[in-house]
Amino acid sequence: MAATRTLATLDADDRALAQAALAASEHAYAPYSGYAVGAALRTRAGTVYTGCNVENAAYGMTLCAEVGALAAANGAGAGDAVQVIAVTGRRLASGAVQTTAVVTPCGRCRQLILEAGHRARRDIRVLCCSHDLSHVQAFTIAQLLPHGFGPASLGKGRSPPRRSR
Ligand code: THU
Repeated sequence: MAATRTLATLDADDRALAQAALAASEHAYAPYSGYAVGAALRTRAGTVYTGCNVENAAYGMTLCAEVGALAAANGAGAGDAVQVIAVTGRRLASGAVQTTAVVTPCGRCRQLILEAGHRARRDIRVLCCSHDLSHVQAFTIAQLLPHGFGPASLGKGRSPPRRSR
């Protein structure tokens, strides 16, 4: 279990990434759940791509924030260079009780991040942040999705991604 840290203990790049995730959550379209999520990822080149959740009246069509960030990176040709992704979320209703619990990616998003890690040959770091970034837990995707189904399961073998710092 990753230790809970404060934003101040992150390095400047990771701090900026968490703040970019929070800024992205401002763009969330979440009229159904009332829960706004933001994600920001950084590539090997240091470029940051962001996403927010986008809900739909057909609930199952909802796009998670991580999906948006990964799609943005893919669209820019950087889908194979993802190194770290930060995620945060909060309840939108005024007066809604916020907890300092960190937001961890849903199962589908973990699977997508795992595949990005295979492409980047990296065990992508996942910075899970509370609604106000006061609490951050740093995991790797292998920690969040151990024994995951991946390219190797289909015989598209590459060696497992190396561990992140
Ligand atoms: N959500 C995300 O954007 N990312 C996750 O990893 C978990 C869930 C969104 C989907 C939905 O719009 C809202 O949070 C509540 O589930």
